[in-house]
Parts: sequence; structure tokens; C-alpha cells
Amino acid sequence: MKISILGGGGFLGRKIAERLAQEGVYAGRRIEGLTLFDMFEPPAPAAPFPVATLAGDVVALPEAAIPVGTDVVFHLAAVVSAQAEADYDLGRRVNLRGTDAVIDACRRLVAAGGKPPRVVFTSSVASFSATQADSLPDDTKQIPGNSYGAQKAAAELILADASRRGFLDVVSVRLPTVSVRPGRPNKAASSFFSGIIREPLLGLEAELPVPDDFAVWVCSPRRAVEWLMHAGAMDTSAMGLDRSLSPPGIRITVGEMLRAMDLVRQGSSALVRRVADPAIAAIVGTWPAEFTAERARALGFAAHEPFEDVVRAFIEDDLEATKRDRGV
Ligand SMILES: NC(=O)c1ccc[n+]([C@@H]2O[C@H](COP(=O)([O-])OP(=O)(O)OC[C@H]3O[C@@H](n4cnc5c(N)ncnc54)[C@H](O)[C@@H]3O)[C@@H](O)[C@H]2O)c1
Repeated sequence: MKISILGGGGFLGRKIAERLAQEGVYAGRRIEGLTLFDMFEPPAPAAPFPVATLAGDVVALPEAAIPVGTDVVFHLAAVVSAQAEADYDLGRRVNLRGTDAVIDACRRLVAAGGKPPRVVFTSSVASFSATQADSLPDDTKQIPGNSYGAQKAAAELILADASRRGFLDVVSVRLPTVSVRPGRPNKAASSFFSGIIREPLLGLEAELPVPDDFAVWVCSPRRAVEWLMHAGAMDTSAMGLDRSLSPPGIRITVGEMLRAMDLVRQGSSALVRRVADPAIAAIVGTWPAEFTAERARALGFAAHEPFEDVVRAFIEDDLEATKRDRGV
């Protein structure tokens, strides 16, 4: 089993790489090689198999990023939401042309006699728009309210077509907002959904740009990794032409997130300051706060744990490393 992670130096890419390194087997097969590709050379986890690390631009994807014999490609490389909204050219280039390059690379492998690799693509809740009151069924039309979401929806379509043509075998997972993200605040409009938990647990202040009753569709890093790994290993024969799904996240208000944090670490939410930010609120305000996620459940995507467990998991998995990284 050979695996490539594009965006392998990012938050979720590193977590998948670490998990594969710990387990040594994937989808019931021994891992024989892992390639990590990102703009900057990604760190290689200690693994019982060879790990190649590679720096470059996904738009000009080097052949070595998806070597001959690759079975599974996790395509995570992307320009994230607020940055794609602020820099239209960059977002369109990386999120669309980058996906084109992944398709072409897989197509070359198949043309050379290889098997179509499974491609796991990380799409997003941001490819939909809805009101806070909606719970979207699986057949909801994607009407993105931002360029990032439009690029993700477009990428889903061309990947599904490439799948139909036999160049690859895609599963596109429309991830909820992942919280709690370790490290530093990033350029995603959703960054504060992690910041309001991570920063207080570091003893730092955080800003909340939306009201406490603002609801969001979230998942934990542990659950996101679990789902993406399931997408890489599952039987796709029941999916037909529709290669995308919304996994079963949780709908939660930011007030409920803060209360869950206080249950785990009493008084932490006192460090959260309410500072309205209309630009951020305008982006996240178009994202649906709930999906029924029936199709994903039927396809074996695991149900979500309560948010208190998410806070505990952040403390267990990421708090110490984040403290070291931030010098806190
Ligand atoms: N984290 C979330 O809340 C969330 C929610 C929905 C969807 N997603 C999607 O999941 C994926 C992973 O998210 P993440 O949180 O790990 O993001 P991340 O920003 O940590 O990782 C993305 C990686 O892509 C790399 N990248 C950007 N441009 C590149 C280029 N031109 N060439 C090569 N690499 C490039 C970045 O360097 C980064 O390491 C992304 O596709 C993101 O859009 C994330």
C-alpha cells in the first residue's frame, strides 16, 4: 500500500501522516511507502515504512508527489476560506488548477497501466449556504456564498467526472469546521471557532466575532482524521456517480462550546472577549449549521462525540505541543 498526502505539512495532513505511521497498516494492508507533499517540506513522522517528503506547488505537481503504484491520495492542499476570499487569483489557482494537476497525475498513472488511485478530497461545509435554522438534507444544491466554497464545489464535480472516466476513484468529504485546531490562528474565516477554546486553554485572550447564539457545524480533529481515513479505505461501489458526502458533525452554538470548555476547565471562558467583526460574520454567516448526514452514516462514517470530549481531546493531543510551538 502506497499513500500520498498533498498538503501533508498542514494541520490535518500531519495528523493523518502520524496516524498512518503509528499503525503501519491501512485498509488491512501493510503500508510500503508514504509521500508527504506541501509548499514547504513537511516533517516526516517516525514510521515503520519509508516516508518521502517533498516541497513544491500543487499546481505544478511533480511526478514524485504521486509515485507509480500509489493506492491512495489524500488531496488536502488548499488555500483556505478567508485567504481565498481576500485573494481571488490565488484561491482559484490553487484550489482549481491544483485539483486539475492531481487529476492529470492520476490519469498518467492509469495511462501507464496502473490502477486508478483512491483520491480523498477535502471539500467543505462552505460549499453550501443556508440560514442558521436549516438542517440540510443530502440532496441539497451547493450554492456557495464565497469563492473558497465555489472552488471546492467545482473541484468536487471535476473529480467526480474523472472518477467516472476511470482516472481515479474519488470520495469528497465535505468537512465541517474543524475545532479545536492546534497551533496558531490561521487565515480561515473559521479560525475563531478554534481560537475561543485553544487560546483560553493556553491562558490567552481570544476574540469572538459573532454572537453567543451563533450556531456552527463542527467536528473534532480526531473525527475528521477518522472520516478521511474511512473515505480512503471504504468500498465506493454503493456511491454511484455521486462521490461527495457530508459527514455527521455536530451543530453547536458558540455559547455551548464555551460552556463545554468551562465544564472541562472552569472559568476559561472569561478570557473570551466579544468583538464583533462584520467581515468574518458575513462569511461564516452563510455556512449551514446542520446537515442530516444520512448518506454518510449509511456509508459507515462514524457519529460524533459530544463537544466536552473534543475539549478534553485537544488537551490530551495538542495542548502541550501548542504551548511549545507558541512559546507560552
Ligand atoms: N480545518 C477545517 O476546518 C476545514 C474545514 C473544511 C475543509 N477543510 C479542508 O481540509 C483540507 C485541510 O485543511 P487544514 O485545516 O489541514 O488546512 P491547512 O492550511 O493546515 O493545510 C493545507 C495545506 O495546503 C498547503 N498548500 C497551500 N497551497 C499550496 C500549494 N500551492 N501547493 C502545495 N501545497 C499548498 C498549505 O501549505 C497547507 O499546509 C483543506 O483542503 C481545507 O480546505 C478544512
